[in-house]
Amino acid sequence: MHNSEILRAQFEKHFGSSHNVRVLFSPGRVNIIGEHIDYNGGLVFPAAISLGIYGLVQEHERDEIVIRSADFVDEEVRISTKGDIMPDSKTPWGNYPRGVVLYIRNAGNTIHGMNMYLSSTLPKSSGLSSSACLECLIAAAIAPRLTEDDFSRARMALLCQRVENEFIGVQCGIMDQMSIALGKKNHALLLNTADLSFSHIPLDLGEHLILIMNTKKPRNLVESKYNERLSECRKALAAINKIKKIEHLVEAGEDDLQYIEDPVLSRRARHVISEQARVIQAAEALKKGNLVKLGHLLDASHASLKNNFEVTGIELDTLVDAARNIEGCIGARMTGAGFGGCAIALVHKNAVEKLIVHAGEIYRKKTGLRAEFYQCTTSDGVGIIPEV
Ligand code: GLA
Repeated sequence: MHNSEILRAQFEKHFGSSHNVRVLFSPGRVNIIGEHIDYNGGLVFPAAISLGIYGLVQEHERDEIVIRSADFVDEEVRISTKGDIMPDSKTPWGNYPRGVVLYIRNAGNTIHGMNMYLSSTLPKSSGLSSSACLECLIAAAIAPRLTEDDFSRARMALLCQRVENEFIGVQCGIMDQMSIALGKKNHALLLNTADLSFSHIPLDLGEHLILIMNTKKPRNLVESKYNERLSECRKALAAINKIKKIEHLVEAGEDDLQYIEDPVLSRRARHVISEQARVIQAAEALKKGNLVKLGHLLDASHASLKNNFEVTGIELDTLVDAARNIEGCIGARMTGAGFGGCAIALVHKNAVEKLIVHAGEIYRKKTGLRAEFYQCTTSDGVGIIPEV
């Protein structure tokens, strides 16, 4: 956790006084199960995590928002609260705040000028939703009303997703923003992405924990591959719709696969249909405390993402296999979009050290990359936090 003394000192270095500063925290997320389901209208099962972005925020009387980040020390992002706002390729990270300010203003809100200092504990471009995390942080900072209740928080998530889809140009689903807006400590979020209804399920793992494993694979091509999968799912749905009417691909059953001639599209649909069933079983298993079953479902999810959806790759497969071979690890899978990024392992507390050393070593030998491991907890959704 970041010490607020240090953050305050940094804030004062850039902006002078830290009088009346508010401290906000926006979590990252892991998806426990339900991958590539949120743009197919199904149930997903993510959790907000204790790695995330801290933001120190102070209002002032000028018509601009000035943002400094610990990760980009020489850069400053200035956003007019009243004038034009355009993307700027000189500071790409600033486009998330630019988009959020613009969309919140266009929704009819007056935006107050402010200074902000950002500091992150969340690895970027690792599939733990650093973009959605930043979007939601800015939204909560400039429009605190959007954190007032669950309904407002869902609105915030939708608004941030629009920023990502339209202003940034990434066609993500709604899972990441909803997890960050509606996270709850010690719980996972069972979210229906078709109507945004949700429930919080206690994440009671007893003697086990969820270990995050970062492949550290440079994530290029993720966006184009992601968009390719999205379009394949749309085509699979269109093929089924020629014979029978369903709104979302998750509504299809195994029997409907016969209507999809193209074998690749058929495999994509097979993943979506089977993954949806696994999400429902995983939530049940967790409610009953059946962790062995949950572990099997994680394994089956990874196998389907590898063989049917083809979004894993040598790095994720190697790390997941290496973890799975450690005694005490009862399930593992990639999390997020895939093509690199992070995986999770459901592992007994006593086996964590062994897993980090041995799986890390096997992974390094096979790929030449050094994996990183994070042992974090779950978190509440974005909002003001007491000084830390
Ligand atoms: C990324 C997207 C999400 C979701 C996952 C895959 O994280 O941002 O909307 O589609 O990939 O489950």
